Amino acid sequence: VGPDGVRSFDLDMQSGTSDLGHGPDTETWGVNGSYLGPTIRAKRGEKVRMNVSNRLGVTSTLHWHGMHLPAAMDGGPHQLVEPGTTWSPQWTVDQPAATLWYHPHMHGETADHVYRGIAGMFLIDDANGPALPDRYGVDDIPVIVQDKKFNGESLDASSAIFNDTGVLGDEIMVNGTPGPYLDVTTERVRLRLLNASNARVYNFGFSDDQDFQLIGTDGGLLAKPVAMQNLRLSPGARAEIVVALSPDTTTVLRSTPPDLGAGFWNDRFAGGADSFDILQLRAASTLASNAVVPEILSTLPDLGDPTVTRRFDLTSSTSLNNKSMDTNRIDEVVTVGTTEVWEVHNSSGQVHNFHVHDVQFQVLDTDDPSLAGRKDTVYIAPNETRRLLMRFTDFTDPSMPYMFHCHLLRHEDQGLMGQFVVV
Ligand code: C2O
Ligand code: CU
Repeated sequence: VGPDGVRSFDLDMQSGTSDLGHGPDTETWGVNGSYLGPTIRAKRGEKVRMNVSNRLGVTSTLHWHGMHLPAAMDGGPHQLVEPGTTWSPQWTVDQPAATLWYHPHMHGETADHVYRGIAGMFLIDDANGPALPDRYGVDDIPVIVQDKKFNGESLDASSAIFNDTGVLGDEIMVNGTPGPYLDVTTERVRLRLLNASNARVYNFGFSDDQDFQLIGTDGGLLAKPVAMQNLRLSPGARAEIVVALSPDTTTVLRSTPPDLGAGFWNDRFAGGADSFDILQLRAASTLASNAVVPEILSTLPDLGDPTVTRRFDLTSSTSLNNKSMDTNRIDEVVTVGTTEVWEVHNSSGQVHNFHVHDVQFQVLDTDDPSLAGRKDTVYIAPNETRRLLMRFTDFTDPSMPYMFHCHLLRHEDQGLMGQFVVV
């Protein structure tokens, strides 16, 4: 923290080599290292500055996914970081405790830059939160889930014929580690799940169909924990879960075929038939007691009554409302202080999700407990419509847009994206 009261973080985007289980020389990218990046932590109310240096040799950006902040600090396609330069956005963290993340948002190149390895978690802490397992690396564990393919020693970004969803890997990495396990030393463990995969949707659960408690989603803690056995998580989305273990047992976090709602063949082409072991949890013979999940976790905000409804159609894997992304076109103009409903339909017959920058929304008309909290990314099956309630509270800038898009990164790069300004 400098004399100006701002906490600074130095983030160097760089290339290097990593051992991802296929020899030591796999060419990868990372932040402050050769693959993925450090977990950034900041407190609610804190002023932060990110010094983002680009040593990749190509232009990129770094976006703070899920963060409420001015559009010029957002790290989207308009905040280019040229090779050899440093970009230093600054803002005040002003939102509840949450598991957010960061990744490049270079239009047309996002899928490539993320696949090579640029991504990391951004945790927001709130001193007034409930007691939860919170010892980072002990009972509070980041779980960045990515599927990868290899061609010899190299990362392989190609996708199968008929697959229009983007690269689907046949190997799972957690935090850049193949075949991962965790030695658990406490009675329960909190897993912060981040789907940082380019295209794959997971359906998380445990090997013995053990219950877990869902405590948080994209933008923070739920009002109350929900016991569940399976949780669908699409690319870009996060979930915090707590699982209880018995001494001397092994439990496997796994992903079983997700219901993508696209029909037999489309589901298969989008990875809907695949199962994976994600992370083995090996409980020690004595487990230390730790925080039990409380019955009340947070108070969800009252976003007020909507005065504006906007309709969006995911019309193909390259277009939204039949238009392909144009960085010079503003698609929507939002008035600050309004509450809106964004009604998003998927008429494309393909698998998509929908992500909105700047806000956390509430998904209306659903009793799915995994959609009950603060969300910024939501799965939308073919023919499905989701109504999203959101409020634009501040940060006007008529000349700098925020993005909304599908978070299957190939689709985003191909133009399934639009821009809005808040005025
Ligand atoms: Cu995680 Cu617009 O992105
Ligand atoms: Cu899509």
